[in-house]
Amino acid sequence: MIMNIAAQVLSGPTGLSEHELLQLLEQPPNPEWGDAALPCFVFAKSRRMSPQNVAAELAGALDQTHGVSAEAAGPYVNLKLDPAVFAPALLEQIGSEDFGKLDLGQGKRVVIDMSSPNIAKPFGIGHLRSTVIGAALYRLLAEAGYETISVNHLGDWGTQFGKQITAYKRWGKDEELNRDPIGESLKLYVRFHDEAEQDPSLETEARDWFRRLEAGDPEAHRLWRYFVDISMQEFKRMYNRLGVSFDHVLGESFYNDKMKPVVEELSGLGLLEESDGAMVVKLDDEGMPPCLILKTDGTTIYPTRDLATAIYRRKEMEADRLLYVVGAEQKLHFRQVFAVLGKMGADWAVQCEHVPFGLMRFEGKKMSTRRGKVIILNEVLDEAVSRAMAVIQEKNPDLSDKQMVAEQVGIGAVIFGDLKNNRINEVDFSLEDALRFDGETGPYVQYTHARIKSVLNRLKGQPTDGEADLNTGLNTVLNTGLNTEQLISVGDTTLLGEAGWSLLKQLSRYPEALERAVNRLEPSVMARFALDTAQSFNRFYHHERIEDGGPLRMRVSELTAELLARSLRLLGLHAPDRM
Ligand code: ARG
Repeated sequence: MIMNIAAQVLSGPTGLSEHELLQLLEQPPNPEWGDAALPCFVFAKSRRMSPQNVAAELAGALDQTHGVSAEAAGPYVNLKLDPAVFAPALLEQIGSEDFGKLDLGQGKRVVIDMSSPNIAKPFGIGHLRSTVIGAALYRLLAEAGYETISVNHLGDWGTQFGKQITAYKRWGKDEELNRDPIGESLKLYVRFHDEAEQDPSLETEARDWFRRLEAGDPEAHRLWRYFVDISMQEFKRMYNRLGVSFDHVLGESFYNDKMKPVVEELSGLGLLEESDGAMVVKLDDEGMPPCLILKTDGTTIYPTRDLATAIYRRKEMEADRLLYVVGAEQKLHFRQVFAVLGKMGADWAVQCEHVPFGLMRFEGKKMSTRRGKVIILNEVLDEAVSRAMAVIQEKNPDLSDKQMVAEQVGIGAVIFGDLKNNRINEVDFSLEDALRFDGETGPYVQYTHARIKSVLNRLKGQPTDGEADLNTGLNTVLNTGLNTEQLISVGDTTLLGEAGWSLLKQLSRYPEALERAVNRLEPSVMARFALDTAQSFNRFYHHERIEDGGPLRMRVSELTAELLARSLRLLGLHAPDRM
């Protein structure tokens, strides 16, 4: 919005279209320099002037523009908006019905592969990241006008089931499994890997069980079903707590009967080649190792299933875009799969995109699924909630719905602690840091939101812990009955003060944040927006007494609460009114 205003006033003097200017304009690194900066390097050649001189000339030409002051700073023109002129317009826009409504997706259908844990293996931290990042992208893309479809591509097929069944047959106790299904199957899993190191016959037995499973052996099938079900129950409990659901849960086993046609097509196209007894598609021309399609024993493998999956999503689900939210370590796998699709003549292969993310360590521990040093994620969530409870107990002992709020704050801390990072970065996750009410955390943003709500409620003479309707719309929360123009005339914009004006400008950046988050498939942009907004509000709150500023300051506070709640919701966090 600010950039639009800057582009408008610059269009005449530069001779560029507003659209071209929007590509060039930057936000100055230091807000004191201005609200927008135009780098002048591009003009130097055509004008036969140094960028510095262009900047000086443009700044001079803009001198007379109403409401915008311009100053040359080296090769840049810095623009500053006058709040007296622009505050009413910003307030009006931010408060309008369609603020932040984007149509980047234009109704295009995007299928998002997310979470996708493996059954008969522990739910890894990578799967947690995939779940949390995928769910945020799902909401952000929907908000920006895409039709979104989420798919949990469960790893519910493969040799690990042979291992699980073998371990169960050797050591499994039904009473134990009934009592603690997930703990017990985990124990079996760990024991198998420990003992297989000494006793190679276990691996042979496991392969045999998997072969029986693939051949449709009823006992193998029954046990497979059983292990899938108990894992799914445990996963569901976690998904519920994280507030995540899926449009489809279609595991790898779903594609069992859909791979043969793919293999035949590859072979018909002459793409399939033999290599050491296995069948592969060579990708030398793309500078990649061959993509394995059939193992030496003729069975299919992970890439084969992903080929069938992508084709299914394109043909049956009619996806325009296919996203895969999967750890960066699978980069080569996806490049290979997409390249093979390309060789098969799928022009839509270019619409397939791996959305990678970095490794996460919990308090310095890298999670190993093999050796029993397993972090049970539900336990991490329990711990987060109980620590959140302790803080609430201390800060607000009289809060009525403490347990619910502790759950929202604790889980929110974990989600936000993940999402605030550039997704590709490695994350060292510390529960203690993630839960700080005064750090760059989810609880900090939630707390700021709740604080605004409580101030506004107090000003309206409502009890702060009253039964206010959680869903009350923006305009009814603070029922001043005044429109923006009247608000401005009641309280002149100087009442906002410098901090309030900064806050207003910050709020106006929401649509840009959404757009950038969607274009880069990067939830951290929205997390950053929420943090900056909360910080900006707290500065305002510190400098200006909201109660003394009349409806204007209240209105800005209310819009802040609204946008904080909105960005939190997009990231997957609740915004409790009290905490
Ligand atoms: N289950 C796989 C794993 O844990 C992730 C699956 C990702 N999705 C996919 N279509 N390959 O490594």
